[in-house]
Amino acid sequence: MKIVIIGSGTGSNAEAILECWKQGNLGKAVPVAIFSDKPEARILTLGAKYGVKAAYVDPGRFKTKLDDEAEARYVDAIRAEGADLVVLAGFMRVLHETFLNAFEGRIINLHPSLLPAFPGLHSIEQAFNYGAKYSGCTVHWVTAGLDMGPIIDQSAVRIEANDTLDTLESKVHAAEHSLLPAVIAKLAERS
Ligand code: GAR
Repeated sequence: MKIVIIGSGTGSNAEAILECWKQGNLGKAVPVAIFSDKPEARILTLGAKYGVKAAYVDPGRFKTKLDDEAEARYVDAIRAEGADLVVLAGFMRVLHETFLNAFEGRIINLHPSLLPAFPGLHSIEQAFNYGAKYSGCTVHWVTAGLDMGPIIDQSAVRIEANDTLDTLESKVHAAEHSLLPAVIAKLAERS
């Protein structure tokens, strides 16, 4: 099962996937490419580290979505890699029809909350400020509704009285780094 990883930032989750693969724990899943909408993003440096293709793909003129031409560019780039699964690991743009139709039922997203609670941006902070007693992360199928597709799996972390936003963020990220590779390995088993 060929996977293409797309992200906008640090790439700690992409790295967790690649590390798991390197250790031989990603089952039949093989990361074949990393694409980013940010030319300077750390996620792109992982390509050289793990021997996987990594490239910037121009996102077009908008800040929070791809314009039609950019969606087509992403679709072409992903198709060229023969991707069976598209993994959104910190990709901070909303996807629309051209992209979603091209890979229907084959796109998963990682979100840093226990959906359906706290969709959108700054989800860890939202949960912390709300006074929630549990936070965590979700991997779900991507559909047209933002952060609304069917849930594949979740991992919960308890928010303790002495947690700060920083310590909570670390806990949620640690949970993400286990959950996302595990979900990919499971999906690969079934493919
Ligand atoms: C992760 O916490 C991921 O859940 C979040 O971005 C971070 C990326 O970190 N995604 C979203 O908020 C999507 N709405 P990373 O670049 O270190 O993997």
